[in-house]
This record gives sequence, C-alpha cells and structure tokens, in this order.
Amino acid sequence: MIPELSNPSVLMRDPQRVQEILESMVKAGSNTLQVISDFDMTLTRFAHNGKRCPTCHSILDNSKLISEDCKEKLAGLLNTYYPIEIDSSRTVEEKLPLMVEWWTKAHELLVAQKIRKDLLSVAVRESGAMLREGYQLFFDHLHKHSIPLLIFSAGIGDILEEVIHQAGVFHPNVKVFSNYMDFDESGVLKAFKGELIHVYNKREGALLNPGHFQELRTRRNVLLMGDSIGDLTMADGVQDMENILKIGFLNDKVEERKQPYLNSYDIVLIKDETLEVPNAILLYLT
Ligand code: TMP
Ligand code: MG
Repeated sequence: MIPELSNPSVLMRDPQRVQEILESMVKAGSNTLQVISDFDMTLTRFAHNGKRCPTCHSILDNSKLISEDCKEKLAGLLNTYYPIEIDSSRTVEEKLPLMVEWWTKAHELLVAQKIRKDLLSVAVRESGAMLREGYQLFFDHLHKHSIPLLIFSAGIGDILEEVIHQAGVFHPNVKVFSNYMDFDESGVLKAFKGELIHVYNKREGALLNPGHFQELRTRRNVLLMGDSIGDLTMADGVQDMENILKIGFLNDKVEERKQPYLNSYDIVLIKDETLEVPNAILLYLT
C-alpha cells in the first residue's frame, strides 16, 4: 500500500495491524489527525558521514558559550548517563532517578555559565545540528494541511525553536513542550522554567498540559514519532484517542534493542537518517 514500508530500514511486528490502522486513519480523514514527535534524534539526525550529530544540550555543550572546564564536566555526565538511558537491561523505574540526576546536574552546570540569550542563535548556527533528510516536506506538508504538530522534547526549548526557525520550518501549526530557559532582565540564563522534562517522564509532561489536548480533542488519530522508549508516553494526554501509529527510530545499540522496540513501536526504522517513511505515511493520509 505504501511502497516505502518495504524499505530495508523498516521492521514491523505486525504489518497487517499497521495496514488496518492506516486504513482506519484514511477513512477518518486528515482533519482528525495530529502528529506528536520527539525532537533530538527523531526530527534531528543521529549521525552524518559517520559523525554523531548534536542534541539540543550538546549544541550548547560544544559551543563557545561554555568554558573548557564546564565542557569536560558535561561530557563526563554524558559518558556516565547516556549509556544508562539506552541500557535495555535496566527498567524505566531504575533509570528514572538517574535521568533526573543527569538533567539536574547538566542544567546546574549550564546556569553557572551565565549564558546570554542573544548568543543562542550563533551557537545553533555554528553547531552541526541537522534535521533529518526530508524535513522540509514533513513540516511544510503538515502546515499545508493544517495538521497540528506537537514537538515534545526533553531537550532545551529555546535551542530547539532556534534550530527549526533557522531551517525555516517553524510554522504556526507547530507547538513545543520542552525545557525552557529563564533569563534575568539583562538576558543572562538564571534557571530553567517549570517542571523538568527528561526522557522518561513525558507522560507527566503530557498530563500537565490538558488545555492543549482539549483544544485538539477532535483530532483522535495520532501519528507518534520517537527514538526512545520514553517517547511512547508522549500521547498519554490525548483525549478520546481512536488510533495511534507509533514510529520509532532505532539509532544506536540496534541488535540488543530491536526486540523491545518491535514490541512497543508499530514501525521501527533501523539506522534510517531520513523522514522518508513518515513522509510517505503522511502523503498517504492526506
Ligand atoms: P529528546 O526528548 O528531544 O530526545 O531530548 C533528550 C535527549 O537529550 C536525550 O537523548 C539525552 C540528551 N541529553 C544530552 O545530550 N545532554 C544532556 O546534558 C542531557 C541532559 C540530555
Ligand atoms: Mg530523542
């Protein structure tokens, strides 16, 4: 039905089920659709030419806005906690307090750097941040068809917005839930606002925003895109859900994580740096 679903990067636990969900969504019409996507390593690339691409946090961590000493400390945190984030032998419950620890320590280090708001755009421009191939079509198509896109990120909202702004795709149908920076009156970072969002508490983040999902209550069909097991809870706030199709990018530690990903995502994309499959699905649905 969708030729791209036969791409070598595509794995499905139950292709028949995927077919049924897609048919049901087509029948319901694109005015019942909403898209909820993670940002880092889902809308952005994991690697390019064999080199890792940065997350929102690492755009800052690698920038001139951070001292060498702080860079070392942030790299230390990444080397300690990222392997835990993706460790399939530990439960989410075990990982949860460790993720809070990672985010809390990283944010404290960033705040101590007195980062200036007016320099964030330069940091993004000079970084190697890259949206996945096909991003233009993805964002433009959703905008053209007035389909709401919620970007739900445990990264940094200010950085994420700058990335999509610089790419020219921050259209009015895009809404962001993320960790936002709080600046003092002279434009210097003093804290992070609101409740912390980390990779494994997106469910709580979703439930803290009932107004958004209330507004979209007629959009009962959801296309969810993520790269972490934690991303599966991003749609927990959706009201009166009819169908959900979950697409998971499996970027790293593929062999050991394949089974858990296949068990929880309807479509698993193995080391696929493009949005070809989500785009083909969107074109089919609209
Ligand atoms: P996401 O929800 O948009 O994918 O963002 C979360 C990612 O950010 C997660 O994979 C870990 C990453 N991260 C860093 O790269 N550096 C950090 O300091 C922190 C706290 C998270
Ligand atoms: Mg991610």
